Amino acid sequence: MLPNPYTPGDRPRVFVGRAAERQLLRDKLARIAAYGEMMGALTIVTGPRGVGKTSLLRDVAGQAEEDGFVVAWVSCVKQHPFLAEIVDRVEHSLERAEVAAPGPRRLKDLTVELSAGFAKVRARLEAGPVAQPTALVGPLEDLLGRAGRLVRERGGSGLIVMIDELHAPLESTREWEYAPEQQALLHGGVLLNAVQNLAGERAGLPVGVIGAGLPQTKSLLTRAATFGERSHELVLSEFDDTDAALLLTEPATALGVTWSLDAVAEVVETARGYPQSLQILGAATWDAARPEPGSVLDLAAVTAGSQSAHSALASIFEARWAVATSAERAFLVAMAQVERPVVRRGEIAALLSTSTEALSMVRRNLIVKGIVEEAGYGRLRFTIPGFERFVLDQTTGREEH
Ligand SMILES: Nc1ncnc2c1ncn2[C@@H]1O[C@H](COP(=O)(O)OP(=O)(O)O)[C@@H](O)[C@H]1O
Ligand SMILES: [Mg+2]
Repeated sequence: MLPNPYTPGDRPRVFVGRAAERQLLRDKLARIAAYGEMMGALTIVTGPRGVGKTSLLRDVAGQAEEDGFVVAWVSCVKQHPFLAEIVDRVEHSLERAEVAAPGPRRLKDLTVELSAGFAKVRARLEAGPVAQPTALVGPLEDLLGRAGRLVRERGGSGLIVMIDELHAPLESTREWEYAPEQQALLHGGVLLNAVQNLAGERAGLPVGVIGAGLPQTKSLLTRAATFGERSHELVLSEFDDTDAALLLTEPATALGVTWSLDAVAEVVETARGYPQSLQILGAATWDAARPEPGSVLDLAAVTAGSQSAHSALASIFEARWAVATSAERAFLVAMAQVERPVVRRGEIAALLSTSTEALSMVRRNLIVKGIVEEAGYGRLRFTIPGFERFVLDQTTGREEH
């Protein structure tokens, strides 16, 4: 049997679509490489969970490394300060680059030359809670600038810092008001501020910082900002039918397996352009069919795989349901009961016999958690297709007991 080429939850084997976003990010990096200049304001890729943010960043990171960049990859954690992690990852990426690029372009002793810079930022971070961002902005700016220049002096293109899950540190610690973890919030401000300063100076600073996070990331960061520093947002949405079909067929084609048209249509319809669901359905169909080179995945294979696809999708839903508080669950149930893709805030309030104002914090938290998203003014929808069905099943399941 051929190995399953689908990658639910992981970086895709064949990256499809996202031509415009990929190009935009690559152009920004090309400018760093060409002029040795700072990329500009912090760029944040946003979108619901499973839409492909991490995959896009990984793809751009891979390309950047081929183009001679050193890439530091940071994955943020819920309600946790993250600057120490950035410093660690920058140091690691430089060490790795030295191993990976021996010879004339060797990044020799990079970390040794930078050790004073690392030590300075670390000392500030380890000294305990910082009240003023200014204590950290300068050292961070300095470290990123120097690291980028050193990479370049040794024949590389510059330093890219990629920060995934950037919304997570800024998540509220309380349900009824926005109460972020204070140091995490401060770190958000420091990051924006440092990147802004570097972008202002620009010349001789071959550095780029790209983040990714849930749809609220930009507005959460703006709250963390001290002087209204700017960031640039790149919003990812669902795949159109053409790209959705390619996501299914390309990995199979690479192994000599094809999909029948009606099977593709069925999966594309079920997944509603959602890459995570497409990968799950693709993987399940493949496992059910156990194709060999020359095989065709048909509607029967899709049906045969649907049971296991269903439980894989259910576990995604369960993870979301698990992080919702009881007030949030009541909100989700009301929303699901409307049984339309886009729901007005007022309809939910009416079903819960309350006002939209009283629900505003619950609504905000659900958006921050990536479970629902805004769909025009005063309107909401579930971020992942099929979730409303799951929510309704939860409630009927409960009533039976
Ligand atoms: N451009 C793409 N091409 C193919 N598969 C993709 C693409 N983008 C995302 N995926 C798939 O969708 C799923 C979710 O992607 P991921 O990048 O983890 O989303 P996010 O970071 O937004 O939560 C993964 O299984 C991944 O393989
Ligand atoms: Mg991700």
